[in-house]
Amino acid sequence: MTDTAEQQPNPLAEGLLVRRVPDPCALVIFGASGDLTHKKLMPALYSLAFRHLLPLHFAIVGVARTEGDDDSWRAEMKEAVQQHGRDEFRQDVWDELAATMHYVATDFADEGGEGKLEELVERCDKENQLGGNRVYYLAVPPPAFPTIVKALGERRSTTGWTRLIVEKPFGHDLASARELNKLLWEHFAENEIFRIDHYLGKETVQNMLALRFANGVFEPIWNRQFIDHVQITVAESIGIEGRAGYYEQAGAMRDIFQNHLLQLLALTAMEPPIDFAADSVHSEKVKVLKALHTPGPKSVVRGQYGRGFIEGQEVPAYREEAGVAPNSMTETFVAAKLYVDNWRWADTPFYVRMGKRLARRETTIAIQFKRAPHPPFEETSAEGLRPNVLLVHVQPDEGVSLAIGAKVPGQGMTIRTVHMDFLYGGAFRTGMPEAYERLILDTMLGDGTLFTRSDEVEEQWLLVDSIVAGWQRDRPAFPNYAAGTWGPPSSEELLRRDGRSWRRH
Ligand code: BG6
Repeated sequence: MTDTAEQQPNPLAEGLLVRRVPDPCALVIFGASGDLTHKKLMPALYSLAFRHLLPLHFAIVGVARTEGDDDSWRAEMKEAVQQHGRDEFRQDVWDELAATMHYVATDFADEGGEGKLEELVERCDKENQLGGNRVYYLAVPPPAFPTIVKALGERRSTTGWTRLIVEKPFGHDLASARELNKLLWEHFAENEIFRIDHYLGKETVQNMLALRFANGVFEPIWNRQFIDHVQITVAESIGIEGRAGYYEQAGAMRDIFQNHLLQLLALTAMEPPIDFAADSVHSEKVKVLKALHTPGPKSVVRGQYGRGFIEGQEVPAYREEAGVAPNSMTETFVAAKLYVDNWRWADTPFYVRMGKRLARRETTIAIQFKRAPHPPFEETSAEGLRPNVLLVHVQPDEGVSLAIGAKVPGQGMTIRTVHMDFLYGGAFRTGMPEAYERLILDTMLGDGTLFTRSDEVEEQWLLVDSIVAGWQRDRPAFPNYAAGTWGPPSSEELLRRDGRSWRRH
């Protein structure tokens, strides 16, 4: 084995066994000079190249309005990969990838704008024998969607397959999401549309399915009889990172609750699908989303951060961030109590919370089981004992831990809570792939399992619209939590009313 071969990652050893090699294709990225392309898409493509997972015949075409050419885009992307990539930067890997990359500066809103792109893609296709296969990635703000989708739809390649990846936000409410679905269906079939929710590409999120459906021990107790309640937390310590224009419109409700949070909940609560085909999984998730509701306006609280400290550094209030209105009523925190009205979950609360500028970055799903019905110990011996909790650490410190009661060594019978832990880092000696690696590869393979179907997105909006409608009536006194804390007091109150509390950190 040569030195280079030793250094190269082995997809088999890393558990990245690909079901089949993607067909030759061109990946066309709209929004090629944008943040997402810099921070996520190009680093993901580099990591796929690093592991030899890209098709042998392949071309990447970047499209944006910014002036530039192949060389300038390659140089810009090289820097992006060096800065944001998860793998070591290797010149030979980069050179091979860069040779597939082309750039076209064009505006689809201009007469003939799409002609320039078509010409370039056709040329790439002929030179590399791509068979007419295309993946179009819409990494542009939603107002640009209609022009692009229409132009692509009208100029579909007559050979090969075409797939369209649509980034979030998918609409602003139910009506706009329906509009967007209608527009997409005019030009593409549902199985050609890949709506991104990048949380579904995360390893630990997929592991929820493995945990539940590959283990005989959990499923029999995964219901209202044994589970007291579920807590889902999506906490971020970062602020809005210069995205005021978007975030002022979105808020935590549309940015996280409508998509990532509800998808985590759906995977936790869904029935076992008959198989892992995309439609089987989507159909089970959509049943959960249809059954989901909040018991009333008091069950949803919102917050907005004021000044505070994150890791010892003072940070400004949300209303002091550049581009944010000084009297903004946009929420940066939401906590809610939700119910899934079906046989499995009736009367079992799902408490969820998410927010910016919270004490630390943490995404967890905590399944709290009911207490043992009759502990045969003296009351004082079990004072340190908490109910069993199965905790899925989505990020960081990816893993799963089970809180159980154990006897403290020594005389007598004292019981304390301890944790049985599975940590990805320890069990699998491999770095975690980034969500976008999986999602780009799955699109090339035509596998839509980890994407969202139109009816899921619409059900998600239906719930959000019903909550947001109730918000028009009252104006909470914002800001109501300090940056670096766990949200407003009303969030604690939401659980206290039920005799419960958020999991201790
Ligand atoms: C995005 C949101 O969808 O997810 C961002 O728009 C958020 O506001 C991000 O920061 C969180 O993603 P991750 O993968 O860092 O948890």
